[in-house]
Amino acid sequence: MRILISGSTGFLGTALIGALAGEGHAVARLVRPGTARRNAAGDRAQIVAWDPAGNQFDAAAAEGADALLHLAGASIADGRWNAARKDLLRTSRIDATRHLIGALAKLQRPPRVIVAASAIGFYGDRGDEALTETSAPGNDFLAGLCREWEAEAARGADFGARVVSLRFGIILAAHGGALPRMALPFKLGAGGRLGNGLQWMSWLTLPEVVHIVQFALATPQLTGPVNAVTPNPVRNAEFTRVLARTLHRPAIFPAPAFALRLALGEMADALLLASQNVMPSRLADAGYHFLRTDLAEALADAFRK
Ligand SMILES: NC(=O)c1ccc[n+]([C@@H]2O[C@H](COP(=O)([O-])OP(=O)(O)OC[C@H]3O[C@@H](n4cnc5c(N)ncnc54)[C@H](OP(=O)(O)O)[C@@H]3O)[C@@H](O)[C@H]2O)c1
Repeated sequence: MRILISGSTGFLGTALIGALAGEGHAVARLVRPGTARRNAAGDRAQIVAWDPAGNQFDAAAAEGADALLHLAGASIADGRWNAARKDLLRTSRIDATRHLIGALAKLQRPPRVIVAASAIGFYGDRGDEALTETSAPGNDFLAGLCREWEAEAARGADFGARVVSLRFGIILAAHGGALPRMALPFKLGAGGRLGNGLQWMSWLTLPEVVHIVQFALATPQLTGPVNAVTPNPVRNAEFTRVLARTLHRPAIFPAPAFALRLALGEMADALLLASQNVMPSRLADAGYHFLRTDLAEALADAFRK
């Protein structure tokens, strides 16, 4: 396959570009003005210039792609969600996706498959409710963002593409995503549960992300929103115990919800305190086999040097 990748220099993009190229796919990176033209994993990837903020797209270079893997978006966890940050989080996903899908629609032969990032933030804070792809969206900022982001990607169906929006859970890797920040207090001996610890955390490992993306690209019956999580979510208190054990550190300093809100504002509720008990129903129905479903094994893998 010839695969276009946006957001290729990020945490997921770097892992995916190497894995897909290693599988023999021809990978072409969508490169924004100012984005590094080379990265460690993708040195041999072709370059397709795009500027989502300036509505520019090199259509000639993109022509002939079979698939788009769309990962671009300003980081959700960097900086407090003030009005300017929220605006960037939205424009870099909703407007950028609208621009990209619109540009692909004008190609002589648009890609037949679009695999786009989304997040379980789609569901908001839902207590113990078991959430599947047919559950209603939540009603906070992140839920609204995910809903509109997915709606823009879904427009790829207008030119006949099969569109899969992967609602990623918490991705466990020692070098990126949320885990290094979660592990830091434990490494300093000051770790503990977050809030009351009852909130459900739905997770998956970085190799699982790669495997799920490969499965989504190759599985014709998979379409629409797909929960990208293992079938074994845990409560934060359990996650805390397993993380502490993995790092051989104590977990005796709970972080009260009010302190998290004071430090992080609205982000604390959406990213740390929200309860999301998410089931990978569509992956299971499509016959996907998980690489890791046990949290202790997943965390041991993540921190293994
Ligand atoms: N990591 C997770 O745990 C997780 C969980 C749920 C959902 N997701 C979603 O999955 C996607 C990839 O995640 P990630 O962890 O790889 O994110 P990341 O490391 O922050 O990378 C995202 C990439 O998006 C591009 N980007 C940054 N600012 C942008 C802007 N203003 N406009 C357009 N593109 C911009 C950059 O790539 P270029 O410079 O190459 O363009 C950046 O490397 C994101 O959309 C994220 O929200 C991630």
